[in-house]
Amino acid sequence: MGFCDLLGFLFVSYCVRQRSAVKKPPEKFQMEFQWSHINFTWPSVDAYHNAVLESKYIPENNAMAGIKYFNNRMYIALPRIRTGTPVTLAYVPINARLKTNVLLRPYPSWEMNAQPNNCSTLQNVQSMEIDKYGVMWILDGVRINNLTRCPPKIVLMDLRNNGKILQSHNVPNEICLHQGGFLNDLVVDESDGGFAYITDNSIQDPGIIVYSRHQNRSWKFRDASMFGELDAAEFEVDGVPNDILIPVDGITMAPMPLRRNEDRLVYYCALSGFSIYAISSQILRDEAICKSGIWRSEVEMVGRKQSQSDGLAMDNKGNLYYGMLSMYGVGKWNIKKPFNTARKVDTSRRTFVWPDSFSFDLNGNLYILTNGINKYFSPTYELRLSTDIKFRILRLTTGTKSYLYS
Ligand SMILES: *[C@@H]1O[C@H](CO)[C@@H](O)[C@H](O)[C@H]1NC(C)=O
Ligand SMILES: *[C@@H]1O[C@H](CO)[C@@H](O)[C@H](O)[C@H]1NC(C)=O
Ligand SMILES: *[C@@H]1O[C@H](CO)[C@@H](O)[C@H](O)[C@H]1NC(C)=O
Ligand SMILES: *[C@@H]1O[C@H](CO)[C@@H](O)[C@H](O)[C@H]1NC(C)=O
Repeated sequence: MGFCDLLGFLFVSYCVRQRSAVKKPPEKFQMEFQWSHINFTWPSVDAYHNAVLESKYIPENNAMAGIKYFNNRMYIALPRIRTGTPVTLAYVPINARLKTNVLLRPYPSWEMNAQPNNCSTLQNVQSMEIDKYGVMWILDGVRINNLTRCPPKIVLMDLRNNGKILQSHNVPNEICLHQGGFLNDLVVDESDGGFAYITDNSIQDPGIIVYSRHQNRSWKFRDASMFGELDAAEFEVDGVPNDILIPVDGITMAPMPLRRNEDRLVYYCALSGFSIYAISSQILRDEAICKSGIWRSEVEMVGRKQSQSDGLAMDNKGNLYYGMLSMYGVGKWNIKKPFNTARKVDTSRRTFVWPDSFSFDLNGNLYILTNGINKYFSPTYELRLSTDIKFRILRLTTGTKSYLYS
């Protein structure tokens, strides 16, 4: 029996207020890291000065996109959108004491990051996923500019063995355009030897690419649901307008179903779009079904979000988190409930400038990267080196882990 029960009706209204206050802790993201510009742990002072002199490092042109936590490190993908970007994959120690402008450490090494057109090294990475075994599945597939001539590839690195490459798959031109393709985001499914479900954000040939680790093969699903929607085409984020139809981008996956024969759904959305779609992972894993085209009737429209989104994320309780680009916030929907129960978790005009990539750690925290990436893609936007904060990694305690831990 608690204090309120003992005092009975006299204190009813007081006690009710107390209880509801306890029930609803405020969901607010806290600042974990922030940057006004990106800089690295250079091998030497000379190396730094040469990189600046030769325009191999132009600080204001560097941007971060994908984030994934593993073993006390936050790994960060740095897509090469502009010139002067020396590193495309790096990390920061999560316990770094400095929270502002912490230097990024190239991963697995400088050599694997700084060799343009050496196709056995990383060329242009947008994002990655890290499975339960510490294998990082890397999308080296930003091929929308001429910063590399290497084919797009999917690289599996063992984080528990200094980033040793376990497997590398060059995606054929019919699956991802070698000039114009854009491997954007992925989820990893551990069934049948391991699969990655990947969005190809290419304007010319958007779709969902499936990669089988066991078969070392890829195939592609193309559907109208993967194109942008006209009514969502025009929006503005931080004064930079967007008016082109940007296709499929965010992707995530339901936790493991309780019954084995139940479908495990993969969710996706076009960037210029409000709709979220779902398709069974069993269908995606079947290359023969993909070729047949009969799968299209299985695509399900599950709901309409309040805003356009970039990244999506799912925890092991079925909570789907999505960025709200034009509303400067993050939304959340539990996939077991109707979509109209979706709600805003947190918003801030100042900090949620283009919520992009999400990551969970193993201690019940959700991280989000906000990066104003639309400015880097806008050819007329003039980037400037200044003390204004451009990138933030924010943290929210959810008490859950990612869909991988289900
Ligand atoms: C980058 O970091 C190096 C130290 O690694 C430092 O000497 C240099 O001034 C920094 N440059 C910028 C632009 O922050
Ligand atoms: C490409 O990079 C790898 C890894 O650093 C290196 O072993 C190899 O010699 C490089 N190839 C060329 C042609 O430079
Ligand atoms: C890349 O180079 C090719 C051939 O040189 C050219 O046709 C194409 O327009 C270039 N693309 C970009 C984005 O610069
Ligand atoms: C996987 O396929 C690539 C070609 O994309 C090939 O170079 C590589 O050797 C294959 N890896 C394995 C482990 O079979």
